[in-house]
Amino acid sequence: MRITLGVTGGVAAYKAAELVRRLQQDGFSVQVVMTRGAREFVTPLTFAALSGQKVITDLFGDSSGGEANLESAIEHIAVAQRTDLLVVAPATADIIAKLARGIADDFLTTLYLASTAPVVVAPAMNVNMWNHEATQENVKMLRARGVKIVDPDEGYLACGMTGAGRLAGQEAILAAVREALHAQRDLEGETILVTAGPTCEDLDPVRYLTNRSSGKMGYAVAEAAAQRGAKVFLVSGPTNLETPAGVERIDVRTADEMRRAVVQRFEQCSIAILAAAVADYRPAERRAEKIKKGNGPLTISLEPTADILAEVARNKGQKLVAGFAAETGHVAENARKKLSAKNADLIVANDVTAEGAGFDQDTNVVTLFSRDGRDLALPKLNKSEVAQRILDEVLRLRSVLHGTSAAKRSAV
Ligand code: CTP
Repeated sequence: MRITLGVTGGVAAYKAAELVRRLQQDGFSVQVVMTRGAREFVTPLTFAALSGQKVITDLFGDSSGGEANLESAIEHIAVAQRTDLLVVAPATADIIAKLARGIADDFLTTLYLASTAPVVVAPAMNVNMWNHEATQENVKMLRARGVKIVDPDEGYLACGMTGAGRLAGQEAILAAVREALHAQRDLEGETILVTAGPTCEDLDPVRYLTNRSSGKMGYAVAEAAAQRGAKVFLVSGPTNLETPAGVERIDVRTADEMRRAVVQRFEQCSIAILAAAVADYRPAERRAEKIKKGNGPLTISLEPTADILAEVARNKGQKLVAGFAAETGHVAENARKKLSAKNADLIVANDVTAEGAGFDQDTNVVTLFSRDGRDLALPKLNKSEVAQRILDEVLRLRSVLHGTSAAKRSAV
């Protein structure tokens, strides 16, 4: 996993060097970004040597009189896309204010706006600056936006005063990083079945019916579940995606093949998350020969496919079954209808026409409709973060419905 570590200007900047090493020991790859202030305290060379990567300092390339270049001007977008987590440590009052207000006047602040990855901020400053209403309001604003703030420790401060303002300890920052990345292995002992991608229903040897699903959402769920320790079967329709690490992928083409692959493995699973965009209809007849062009209109007769979600959820027992609902209107109403009609425990619904949601996007905007009546509307997040939230909700729901913790489950 790739972490971008933003280092800002404070006496505690030197402590970020140790943080780089600890993150690397935990298996993360670290890209350091330094603000101008940070460079007054520590040289980029220190971080370059520790991280083994070029340290990013400027929005427009070399600030020492070199020419601004387009490549570095758009680099923040590339870094933003590569980042799984942004950590700002130490964070000054200044950077906290900029992040809260959306000011983008250097690489780090621009990266913050351009990234959809989760964010951890570890403040360090003078006690009065920390307690100032302006700072506290900014911190509150960031928290409300989902940023994880690692509260500063109390103690003797570089300015000679005593109070809250010391950069939190490495362990507290690392715990926040793991929590933000859901790097905990709370799905150990679980076997999870995920479906993803479209299905293709052949009409003749060269033509087929399909849909615009890229498979990204389902693959993100499979990847997240594997990261959290689950054994994962990913039954996938045709996609261009790589198999996530630690996932067993079963390739299928048609709804019927997907149904068979799912039914075969469902018995061994404790959780099923069916994200595939399964074709609801297939050609009633698959022609052995290519259909030739005629003069008049062509009518193709379609027959329904089996509803895989409804079929497995019918006899799910204590297993937890989640499905998706891709809607173009009346999202809540349709999602709740699907939840009960298909006997699912959770429906992840999105309006595929909304900005930042739907097909072939890296982000999604979804609401989780649970069987216990909870509706959880999530903001626009990247699909891997959405996947993590789905898994969180699945675990919460299971303990509400069946009172089973992950640990107890693994003994079942
Ligand atoms: N699904 C399935 N088998 C099908 C069709 C859908 O398992 N033959 C699953 C999908 O994987 C998804 C959920 O059902 O988890 C809902 O899919 P969606 O296409 O939104 O709903 P449909 O039941 O097909 O209803 P409609 O297309 O009318 O909205």
